[in-house]
Amino acid sequence: MEKPLGVETASERPSIDPAVDFARAIEHGKPDFAHGVILYLDDISVSFDGFQALNKLSLAIDVGELRCIIGPNGAGKTTMMDVITGKTRPDSGTVFFGQNIDLLKMTEPEVAHAGVGRKFQKPTIFEQHTVFENLELSMKADKRVRNTLFAKLNSEQRDRIAETLRQIRLEDAASRIAGLLSHGQKQWLEIGMLLMQEPKLLLLDEPVAGMSDDETERTAELFLALAGKRSLVVVEHDMAFVAKIARTVTVLHEGSVLAEGPMERVQNDPRVIEVYLGR
Ligand SMILES: Nc1ncnc2c1ncn2[C@@H]1O[C@H](COP(=O)(O)OP(=O)(O)O)[C@@H](O)[C@H]1O
Ligand SMILES: [Mg+2]
Repeated sequence: MEKPLGVETASERPSIDPAVDFARAIEHGKPDFAHGVILYLDDISVSFDGFQALNKLSLAIDVGELRCIIGPNGAGKTTMMDVITGKTRPDSGTVFFGQNIDLLKMTEPEVAHAGVGRKFQKPTIFEQHTVFENLELSMKADKRVRNTLFAKLNSEQRDRIAETLRQIRLEDAASRIAGLLSHGQKQWLEIGMLLMQEPKLLLLDEPVAGMSDDETERTAELFLALAGKRSLVVVEHDMAFVAKIARTVTVLHEGSVLAEGPMERVQNDPRVIEVYLGR
C-alpha cells in the first residue's frame, strides 16, 4: 500500500548532519562523467521478507537528462531511490555514480556529499525561518563553505541565493516566514535548498503531489530549466505533468523496467496500458 501523502517517518528524512565527516566522501574520489552517464543501476534486487520490491532492475541516466519514472503503486519507485541514496542496501546488483563511484559502498551522507540530492514528498524546511534564511542555512550546512557559518555572506554567496530564489520563483517571498508559504511554495523552497548544495543529480519523489494546477505548471517549467545543467530523476503519478516534461519515460512494474522510451510510445504500449488499467 502506498503511504498517504505527507506521512513520513523520521528515518526517511535525509541526513543533513554537518558533523558528518566530509573527508570520508572525498576519499571516494571525484565522480567521472566522461562517458556521459551519471547514474548506472544494474541488476538490482531488493526483497523485504521474501517480497521482491526490486527485481533485477537496470537503468542508466545520462548527464543532464530529465528522466521520468512512472508505474503503479508498489512498483518499487521509492525503493529504487532508497537504493541509490544508500538508505536501503540491495541483495544484489551495482549502482555507479559516473563511471567510478560505487554508491553501494557509501553511507547516506556520503552519497549526498558526492552530489546526489533527494527531495522527499514532505518538505523538510525550517518553518520558523525566512525563505532567505532557509537557503542560507542549507548552503552553510555544506562543509565546503562551513567555515563561513558565523561569517557574513560574501557577494558570491548572496548572488547564489538570489539566483536560486529566482529559479524557484520565490524572489518576492525572500523575507517571508517559510511556515506561511503555500504547499507548492514549500516544495519549491526545499528544491531550492537542495540546489544550494549543487547536486549533480536530483531525485524527486512525487514532487507535484498536492500542488494546484498553476503550481504544477510552474514546477514543470522549473524542471525544464534545470535539465541540462543538472540531471533529474522524477518519480510522478501525474501523467499530465509527466507528458509536459518527459523526454524519456521509464515504466516500473513489479520491481523492474516494463517499458522505456518517449512518452507517446510508452503511453501506447499495450503492456503499460494493461498494468495501469488492469488494476
Ligand atoms: N521497508 C519496507 N519493508 C517492507 N516492505 C516494503 C518496504 N519498503 C517498501 N516495501 C514494499 O515494497 C513495494 C514497493 O514499494 P515502493 O518502492 O514504495 O513502491 P512505489 O514507490 O513504486 O509505490 C511495496 O509493496 C511496499 O509495500
Ligand atoms: Mg513511492
